[in-house]
Amino acid sequence: MITYKDNLKEIFETQLSGFFVGWPDPPTPKTHLEILKKSSSFVLAIDEDTGCVVGFINAVSDNIMSAYIPLLEVLPEYQKRGIGQELVKKIIKIYENLYMIDLCCDKETQPFYEKLGLVKSTGMFVRNFDKQACE
Ligand SMILES: CC(C)(COP(=O)(O)OP(=O)(O)OC[C@H]1O[C@@H](n2cnc3c(N)ncnc32)[C@H](O)[C@@H]1OP(=O)(O)O)[C@@H](O)C(=O)NCCC(=O)NCCS
Repeated sequence: MITYKDNLKEIFETQLSGFFVGWPDPPTPKTHLEILKKSSSFVLAIDEDTGCVVGFINAVSDNIMSAYIPLLEVLPEYQKRGIGQELVKKIIKIYENLYMIDLCCDKETQPFYEKLGLVKSTGMFVRNFDKQACE
């Protein structure tokens, strides 16, 4: 059974392995845990059979006007079961009273977000690839 939680009670870095699939220089599970701690909010999907985190989403926000969603990922073996959809719905619910909730995504992922009511946009960004591991 998959359950969802928005706190790190009884969550350790050992439960955060396997994420950042395909990233050339991914953050370690320890850094991943730090990212969650310092986020304004996050939601984790947990496989109750293994105790492992199998999906997560986080947000940074001023809690007045805007929130930004930097990361969303579901482990490959858990994809296409509605977990990603549930994570997005839950984080949007947290910020439903704010004016703007933004994220950047690839063109291929736009249909996933459109199904959830998000609207296509054009974005700009800076990436310091030598800082990808956040170390
Ligand atoms: C994108 C991602 C989070 C989706 O998670 P998921 O748990 O597989 O998604 P769901 O099972 O909730 O999918 C819900 C719907 O979106 C569709 N969908 C899922 N991933 C999709 C994708 N990448 N592109 C288009 N549609 C997608 C599903 O087919 C499903 O449609 P349906 O309800 O009509 O069958 C997951 O594929 C992932 O972690 N990808 C790698 C990281 C990534 O790209 N993150 C997004 C960064 S912006």
